Amino acid sequence: MGKRVSTGITGLDEMLCGGFLPQSAVLVRGAAGVGKTTLGLQFLIHGAVQENEPGLLVTFEEFPESLYRDARSLGWELRDLEERGGVRILLTSPQVFLASLESPGSPLAELIRAHGIKRLVLDSMTHAHKLARSAEELREVNARVVNALKREEITSILLSEAPNTTSLALTDAALQAEGSLLFIVDGVLLLGFVEVDSVMFRALTVLKLRGSDHAKEIRRFEIGPGGIAVLDRFQGHEGVLTGAPRVLPSLRPDVR
Ligand SMILES: Nc1ncnc2c1ncn2[C@@H]1O[C@H](COP(=O)(O)OP(=O)(O)O)[C@@H](O)[C@H]1O
Ligand SMILES: [Mg+2]
Repeated sequence: MGKRVSTGITGLDEMLCGGFLPQSAVLVRGAAGVGKTTLGLQFLIHGAVQENEPGLLVTFEEFPESLYRDARSLGWELRDLEERGGVRILLTSPQVFLASLESPGSPLAELIRAHGIKRLVLDSMTHAHKLARSAEELREVNARVVNALKREEITSILLSEAPNTTSLALTDAALQAEGSLLFIVDGVLLLGFVEVDSVMFRALTVLKLRGSDHAKEIRRFEIGPGGIAVLDRFQGHEGVLTGAPRVLPSLRPDVR
């Protein structure tokens, strides 16, 4: 097995059989507030601190100040890392970002080359999609982003916001609404909120990982100091990724 790009997230690397494949583009899809930006930051920080792989967060939505503040609450001094060149933050617009992907002399291309960027997080594809006026343009945006990142030999995480109905039976309408992004990328992680006995949990699963084996189970995760920690799997429930799981009949007290 070739070298993997480790996420540094306990439990997740194990689910990915070591990490992402080098130069792959992985989609992280989930509801607002579930932990997508946190997962992306953790991937970049781990790369910078442990793997000597400089990273870039391209954000269309959050000001660096608010990212610094959120990161600090998780124990990460993002500003220090930025000053040392390990993790850079680029606040830009989807228009500027897409245009600069194709021009070798653009500030983005310069930044990637000058700093030897190896890991990139795009927050988010959902924003980039707002530029597209047809299904065809949506697919074109997806292909432009993924191809440009591969050309630069970068391992990337693309974030995308989706309602909390991460049912594995993704509807055709949902797939089309994002220009078949799930098919273009090399890997897909689904994140969701799950209600069990009136308590909200967070859950994640690896939907696909091209060219590699991966765990098929749905596991709980928590966000706290140090970032995301992947815990045990949901047992005795089905329909977990619908957000409202059912206890398996064999485990229900009334039918036992
Ligand atoms: N220090 C912290 N301790 C516990 N939970 C936190 C902490 N910081 C952030 N979170 C949780 O992470 C969530 C935000 O995650 P975020 O990665 O921004 O979500 P997304 O990008 O998917 O919208 C918050 O809603 C909060 O519940
Ligand atoms: Mg976010």
